[in-house]
Amino acid sequence: ASGNPGGPASAVPPGYVSPDGEEVAAAERGRARGAVREIRLTATPSSLDLGDRTVRTWTYGDELPGRPVRVTAGDTLAVRLDNNLPRSTTLHWHGIALRNDMDGVPGVTQQPIRPGASFDYRFAVPDPGTYWFHPHSGVQLDRGLYAPLIVEDPREPLEYDHEWIVMLDDWVDGVDGSTPDAVLDELTGGRARMAGMDDSEGAQDTEDLEGADGGPGGRPAGPSRRLRGARSRLLEGDPGDVAYPYYLVNGRAPEDPRAFRAKPGDRIRIRFVNVGGDTPFRVALGGHTMTVTHTDGYPVEHTTTDALLLGMAERYDVLVTAQDGVFPLVALAEGKGGAAMALLRTSDGAAAPPPSVRPRELDGRLLTADRLKAAEDVRLTPRDPDRTVRLRMTGSMARYDWAINGKPYDPAQRYPVRAGERVRVSFINGTDMWHPMHLHGHTFQLPGGGPRKDTTIVLPHHKVDVEFDADNPGLWMVHCHNIYHSESGLMTIIGYR
Ligand code: C2O
Ligand code: CU
Repeated sequence: ASGNPGGPASAVPPGYVSPDGEEVAAAERGRARGAVREIRLTATPSSLDLGDRTVRTWTYGDELPGRPVRVTAGDTLAVRLDNNLPRSTTLHWHGIALRNDMDGVPGVTQQPIRPGASFDYRFAVPDPGTYWFHPHSGVQLDRGLYAPLIVEDPREPLEYDHEWIVMLDDWVDGVDGSTPDAVLDELTGGRARMAGMDDSEGAQDTEDLEGADGGPGGRPAGPSRRLRGARSRLLEGDPGDVAYPYYLVNGRAPEDPRAFRAKPGDRIRIRFVNVGGDTPFRVALGGHTMTVTHTDGYPVEHTTTDALLLGMAERYDVLVTAQDGVFPLVALAEGKGGAAMALLRTSDGAAAPPPSVRPRELDGRLLTADRLKAAEDVRLTPRDPDRTVRLRMTGSMARYDWAINGKPYDPAQRYPVRAGERVRVSFINGTDMWHPMHLHGHTFQLPGGGPRKDTTIVLPHHKVDVEFDADNPGLWMVHCHNIYHSESGLMTIIGYR
């Protein structure tokens, strides 16, 4: 069964204010300059070996991360997704300026893809860079459903001997019988699910209810001991009786890390992606400095640092020259007391450091996005904004009532802008938590000639003004990329045609 037998248009829900077919087709012709790349993906339940334990989870093709998808800028990506999951799902192409009807937001840009159904995504990929994809259905991305999308630059200016993709994850799925859905339920008392935010039609897997106090379809009477445990471990990183949450590099726990190999003197391009649901990571490579070349896919003026801070969904590309030995690449769960690790090995026989190692670079110069400048060729031409959209993040940890301007997510609400406008989005954080704010379909710019990004950290009680050009009509989500915040309400829509 195909979810879109008559092509994408038939899959678009009523009330969708997309640009008309002509407009989309014309924009698409301008973007599609290259080959068509056909790929088949299956979302499926899997058993995964994390290095020291096996968990039941959901993956793309039984791998964690899913296999990288590689295209060249200008190519058209044609992906058939087969949904073998027990729930509806979608695919969202994080950071890509694509046609709106392929953006993968259920109930907004397409109907959910039912269990057993398929959907054909087909869109031109205009810009080179490091991207990734994940479902936009509930908290599914906090299972094993994520993979890199690498868009090659036909005129690649960087020279390097190796390219590594490093995906950093916090892991809660299946470790002690809990699931991300159960954690969300516990955080919100079932509110998010009942509001239909995760498009699961009120259905709940029996595995999700295991250990909960409610019955199937019923309102949980109160957090069970297990779920209370899951919550505090997720939020505070309390190791408890298992090392939990797990912190993973490319799907492996620090006890059995991935090892990358190179020769001393080799130049390595590392593409870091934080795919965690709830964890910022501070990242360093022992014995090395890193030169940042890109963030969120877009080039920056090269900047050298000891450590990087990555909010959820952010990407950084760095260049490193390999030294001689075995070096820990450590991603510290910021504020949580856990870490993920991988190894850089340039000599045989040398012993690997223990998983508890803390390279001194982690405490050295720490780079955050506000210290970067966009490379000249991607800098927006300065101009006064035509409009300012003020998005104030509200809510508290205790009530878990995250919202924008006091209103939890409502799929019928839009912040309207007009095509052709320079739009300023003022992210105002009125809460005590920090939030990685993400806009779909566009890459905004940070103030003062700052980097082009699609996701930016907004610190507690701080404001960040970003600007973008409204050049890609449609309905575009703006949300916190802490998946538990967005699914409990910190999400809205900017729309224009
Ligand atoms: Cu990674 Cu709504 O996105
Ligand atoms: Cu948030």
